[in-house]
Amino acid sequence: MEAYIFDWLNLLLRWLHVITAIAWIGSSFYFVWLDNSLTRPDDPALLGKGVGGELWAVHGGGFYNPQKYLLAPKTLPQNLHWFFWESYSTWLSGFALFSVLYLFNAGTFLVDKHVLDMTATTAVLAALANLIAGWLVYDAICRVFGDKPGGDRVVGVLVTLYVVAAVWVACHVFSGRAAFLMTGASLATVMSANVLFWIIPGQRKMVASMRAGQSPDPIHGKRGKQRSVHNTYFTLPVIFAMLSNHYSMTYSAGNNWLVLLLIMLAGVLIRQFFVLRHKGVYNWWYPGIAVGLLLAVIVWMSPLMQARPVVVAASSSSSSSSSSSEGGAFAQVQQVIQARCIQCHAAKPTLMPVPGKGILLDSKDGVLQHAQQIYQQAVVQKAMPLGNMTNITDDERALLGKWFEAGAKGE
Ligand code: HEC
Repeated sequence: MEAYIFDWLNLLLRWLHVITAIAWIGSSFYFVWLDNSLTRPDDPALLGKGVGGELWAVHGGGFYNPQKYLLAPKTLPQNLHWFFWESYSTWLSGFALFSVLYLFNAGTFLVDKHVLDMTATTAVLAALANLIAGWLVYDAICRVFGDKPGGDRVVGVLVTLYVVAAVWVACHVFSGRAAFLMTGASLATVMSANVLFWIIPGQRKMVASMRAGQSPDPIHGKRGKQRSVHNTYFTLPVIFAMLSNHYSMTYSAGNNWLVLLLIMLAGVLIRQFFVLRHKGVYNWWYPGIAVGLLLAVIVWMSPLMQARPVVVAASSSSSSSSSSSEGGAFAQVQQVIQARCIQCHAAKPTLMPVPGKGILLDSKDGVLQHAQQIYQQAVVQKAMPLGNMTNITDDERALLGKWFEAGAKGE
């Protein structure tokens, strides 16, 4: 019953999280696009009012004409629209989902004792510390260097170095799956905290001084812009990190930290292409390099490249050990599955409240039916057993591999 309720919580929170994230990233994309697509108005009346750029658009049967003021407009209307709930609700729903999925099941999902042997409590504390530390380090970099001349570039380099270090650490502390997700959560926390602690307060100060008839201090606009530019480049990497937990070929490799960095870099380059494109600049190098990086990762992670050690192990183990029949007899396969998988893949699993993905391997039929997936998850990607909680050996993986490659027979 508890597992059933958790599944519903999972579903409802995920649904909410995706919707709020669409609203947030959608409006963020829209404003980046708008800002970069503005043209100088021809109308002298508009120029006289202080409008520096405008845009004409048709959408949903109506014509729209947003205008951006170079400095502040002379008067501010009472009804001024703010954008922050999109961001806050994305963070809140995301954190709730992370708690339900990962923090409540820390022993299963956060910990991989082959990466680092720690208790579930340590893992939860480390996960929370990771979120907070990410923000503190990033914010310190921006505070110290952000306002200096040429600061944008220095901050950009330092933030990049920080992300590289953070990814490396996460992948050496948490299970691959959790490390990827938490990198996304950590960057998304930075994005939301930028809105909460800098962008919105800066805007409030600007509006307050304008309402008081003073001219606003441009530093608030400058700082807000800097943070908002970072958010723009974080979006694609964050969305990949959020989706990655469905794709174990990305996070289960030995050098998974490098895989994550390369894919995130591809995301940044693709975003850069679109940022420039809004200004009418088509620099195809950016997506070209991004596609090259993705192709390199695809080839690097392919079963051909990754499974080679397993195949070698298979032939050496069969010659050294006394494995009798060709390709590993089904009885041996079932022994491995009984020893390493059914703790989580039986009708009443012992290590999990419900069988993982509903896959049952406690019968002959179940094993035969899922042969392809077993091969994929346990041999090629080594994503299963989850966090290798049941200590499967390379020889056992090789045995499953030989069995599958010999036709996955049931005898
Ligand atoms: C500690 C628990 C645990 C153990 C042990 C375990 N699994 Fe899993 N398995 C899971 C969970 C949880 C999921 C669902 C993961 C998800 O939702 O992405 C899963 C999913 C799967 C899937 C479906 C993956 C997909 O995305 O389609 C396969 C296949 C699988 N496991 C095979 C195995 C095999 C084979 C073994 C033994 C070698 C094994 N598992 C051992 C927990 C476990």
